[in-house]
Amino acid sequence: MQYAAITGWGMAVPDRVLTNADLERMVETSDEWIVSRTGIRERRVVGPQDTTTSLSVAAARQALEKAELTADDLDLIIVATCTPDQFLVSEACLVQGELGGRAAAFDLGAACSGFVYALSTASQFIQSGAYQRVMVIGADTLTRFVDYSDRSTCILFGDGAGAFVLEASTEPRGLLSTVLGADGGGYKHLYIPGWGAFVPESAGIFPEYRPYLQMNGREVFRFAVTVMGDAAVEAVEKAGLGFDDIDMLIPHQANLRIIDAAARRLNLSMDKVWVNLDRYGNTSAASIPIAMVEAEQAGKLGEGDNLVLVAFGGGLAWAASVVRWGTDGVCSRATQRAVNSRSGARSSGSN
Ligand code: ACO
Repeated sequence: MQYAAITGWGMAVPDRVLTNADLERMVETSDEWIVSRTGIRERRVVGPQDTTTSLSVAAARQALEKAELTADDLDLIIVATCTPDQFLVSEACLVQGELGGRAAAFDLGAACSGFVYALSTASQFIQSGAYQRVMVIGADTLTRFVDYSDRSTCILFGDGAGAFVLEASTEPRGLLSTVLGADGGGYKHLYIPGWGAFVPESAGIFPEYRPYLQMNGREVFRFAVTVMGDAAVEAVEKAGLGFDDIDMLIPHQANLRIIDAAARRLNLSMDKVWVNLDRYGNTSAASIPIAMVEAEQAGKLGEGDNLVLVAFGGGLAWAASVVRWGTDGVCSRATQRAVNSRSGARSSGSN
């Protein structure tokens, strides 16, 4: 059996910080309300020069460096995003154009669940033997579609990108199970009307029309609390593990109350849950990869650790996975290390 281990990772967020105090000056809200209802204190917001592509490329370059690979080594790039810089061409082609190489490239759209959907898709290309090395990126710049006069949505979102390199492994590393789901009947609870080929007549005079994200927060909250717990539990069971086997929960960073509910369903204490929404808000498809990169940088992820990733969002869609961290059994790493030690180069030792 072939597995798809995570061998490289990186993240990027814009420099610009938007705090709750800034928002207090823009809409009728308060730091106290935002923190108590969501857990968010500040978020990173794109400046004029930042794009979904620039953030993705920055994260991807770090991931390649960590994996000790170049873009030429990649067989496939998948970008999970609902905010590509252009529709024609795909975000993945824009990223590949900057990175170089000749990898196949396509986008995957599942909003905030997109990264876990893409991780599942990428892993299957490796598990089937079709490809050896795949880059998966979760990137979004949703603040470009946020109406900063709407206090019910403008407090929630931030921008960013996270990138992972997956490589074939003979040991059970990377994705051990996946649960994917969608309820398209609920799409109007969270969507951007007119952001696509169809522009509704109510849009007014095209092309000045600027679509904004619309959300029914209470409905999305209700949906999220149920599916996050259910999907996480199902992913653990599908992996043949018990809750005691889980070392870390990496949830989609939308709302601390939703994260709390998911942690309780898995019987996990909050020291086993990575939370960074206080600093980044909801970065959509970037939220889980950014959280994983930060957890690794904080020394929280060890070889063989079992992680639960769980996300929900626009679609309405949801996704959960159990991922085993580490690079045991990655053939290219063993080969590379042998080459490095023969040539006297420093040992890779990045894991
Ligand atoms: N500041 C102050 N008051 C506010 C604010 C604000 N920023 N926003 C709303 N309120 C008010 C409302 O107007 C309402 O007032 P009313 O009772 O007089 O009508 C009151 O606060 C309560 O509003 P609710 O919407 O019931 O507040 P709730 O506790 O549900 O919190 C929130 C709202 C934070 C949006 C919550 O519903 C939530 O997090 N939902 C999930 C949203 C989400 O995660 N979306 C992203 C999905 S991922 C993706 O795919 C992009």
